Amino acid sequence: MSSRKQYIAGNWKMNKLSAEAASLAAEIVKGSKNASCRVMIAPPFTSLGEVSKVVKGSNVILGAQNMSNEKSGAHTGEISIDMLKDLGVGVVILGHSERRIIYGETDQFINSKIKLAMKEKMEVIFCVGETLEEREAGKASEIVSKQVINGLKDIAKTDLSMITIAYEPVWAIGTGKTATDKDADDVHSIIRKTLTKIYSADVAEKMVIQYGGSVKPENAAKLLSMENIDGALVGGASLKAEQFLAIVNCAK
Ligand code: PGA
Repeated sequence: MSSRKQYIAGNWKMNKLSAEAASLAAEIVKGSKNASCRVMIAPPFTSLGEVSKVVKGSNVILGAQNMSNEKSGAHTGEISIDMLKDLGVGVVILGHSERRIIYGETDQFINSKIKLAMKEKMEVIFCVGETLEEREAGKASEIVSKQVINGLKDIAKTDLSMITIAYEPVWAIGTGKTATDKDADDVHSIIRKTLTKIYSADVAEKMVIQYGGSVKPENAAKLLSMENIDGALVGGASLKAEQFLAIVNCAK
């Protein structure tokens, strides 16, 4: 068994008003007191302040779903890394496929955000994943490797302990379709091989790689038992405490 600690993260996306977010967070804090894995929740920006108070002093890490690639200045509508830190955010999700596809974020743009996060000592969950078209064309490995290489360009080996990779096949997100345990594990293994090429085998061995895409209580245990799957980035099922905690309880 690997020495990697499993890591379950909830991405609430554009859901929950402040009061609902605070009560969901409170249930999660309560239910994950004895969790053996790392637990993170990423509410929308507007609820970070409320949720921050709820998770304070608990073992639930506060995450944000995005941030600006600039430190400060004239960027109307953007949220800076210092604003996130000010609210107690410890980790930021970058490169989510919804940001890539709907909002046109490129590998280079995502790389600039990861660089800023490393400079400012903020943990990152860095998302990669192929579309259905790319998978059907037999290009999943190539696409995911390219995203990893471009996203981590010029990131020092010593910074990698602050980065978690989330493999999220686009066709599995919010669709109810999950990659088979074997298909997901295969791509995770390709990501490890890519990390070995860019950095070294020991770096690749230590890197925590989550799977994301319709993870639910019914499929979590099998996915999390795979050799290369070290956790989950959960969307829909993270919006209900009972479901999210059931996934947390599947982690080792
Ligand atoms: P899902 O979302 O669990 O609803 O498929 C996962 C994600 O987008 O992180």
